[in-house]
Amino acid sequence: MIEEEKTVLVDTVWAPHRFEFVENLKQEIDLHKIDYIVMNHGEVDHSGSLTALLEEIPGTPIYCTAACVKSLEGQYGKLDWNFHVVKTGDTLDVGNGKKLIFVEMKMLHWPDSMATFLTGDNILFSMDAFGQHFAVEELFNDKADQALLNKEAMKYYANILTPFSMFVTKKLEEISDFGLTFDMIAPAHGAIWRDNPMQIVEKYAKWADAYQEDQVTLVYDTMWDGTKKLAHHIADEIHVQSPDTVVKVYCMQTADKNEVMTEVFKSKAIVVGSPTVGNDILSSMTGWLGFLKQLKFKGKRGAAFGTYGWSGEGVKIIKDWLAKSGFNVVDEEVRVNWNPEAEDYAKIPAMVTALLKN
Ligand code: FEO
Repeated sequence: MIEEEKTVLVDTVWAPHRFEFVENLKQEIDLHKIDYIVMNHGEVDHSGSLTALLEEIPGTPIYCTAACVKSLEGQYGKLDWNFHVVKTGDTLDVGNGKKLIFVEMKMLHWPDSMATFLTGDNILFSMDAFGQHFAVEELFNDKADQALLNKEAMKYYANILTPFSMFVTKKLEEISDFGLTFDMIAPAHGAIWRDNPMQIVEKYAKWADAYQEDQVTLVYDTMWDGTKKLAHHIADEIHVQSPDTVVKVYCMQTADKNEVMTEVFKSKAIVVGSPTVGNDILSSMTGWLGFLKQLKFKGKRGAAFGTYGWSGEGVKIIKDWLAKSGFNVVDEEVRVNWNPEAEDYAKIPAMVTALLKN
């Protein structure tokens, strides 16, 4: 909420909390004092309380992008809301010598996305950008557990913004060209960056540039532990060949897909395994690989491994998934009939060497 000569509400909250949101807002302010609503983004975690709010204050002007009008009407119906379409550089006077400057953030991560800058206080209301799926009771970044905050900020980038990294780089340049100073960056969810707010902007610049660390992540599922044995032997071999490389191993029976994807984001290479099942791979892996493909990672290597009883297509299927997901797939593979024996483990060093090659 911005309370100057004009009162402005920036964004709302997720639909299941819409009535609670309106009641809480009433504790803070007479709703009829709200002059404008700024909708930076139409996704339901930002717009989900609009219907309940506008039942109380119908006709309140809503400032948003043209694409946001489409997304709000698409989601909630054509309800004759009082939209005012804005584009980059448009301003709205809020009194006391301050104004809002709107900046379209198209495809970060929806076509409707927008950020709003409040002059005077130098606050960027950045919507999803620089945010997290993370609640900090004390609201501000300096009050948060720093390790957790950084992990959640990276997890958000990795899982939501990776496919749009090209747009992130361009947008950061464009915002820098505005020459604005940020005293605070306030995403719609997650910690508000008030202590050195530029730290998260600098991180985004790094993350958008095909980010990787010296890490390899193994992701697999297994039926009767043959593929699991291979996974751990491969991890051991990476340690042998490259002792400083961080190695993480995840079984998709229990691992959280977003946690795993964050580790992929940090990795220079991944190794993916599954047994062959029904002329395919385990559905847990198919689902995860589908998600991997959506994220359009760049500049990472991939390798595949797995066991089979008879038809044995699994390893090729994984390699195809990795190739169409943008990974540089090494030819070397570990494909094992039934449970792995010494001669099967002997194929691992060559695959690891190819994977780690500079
Ligand atoms: Fe794109 Fe926070 O929703």
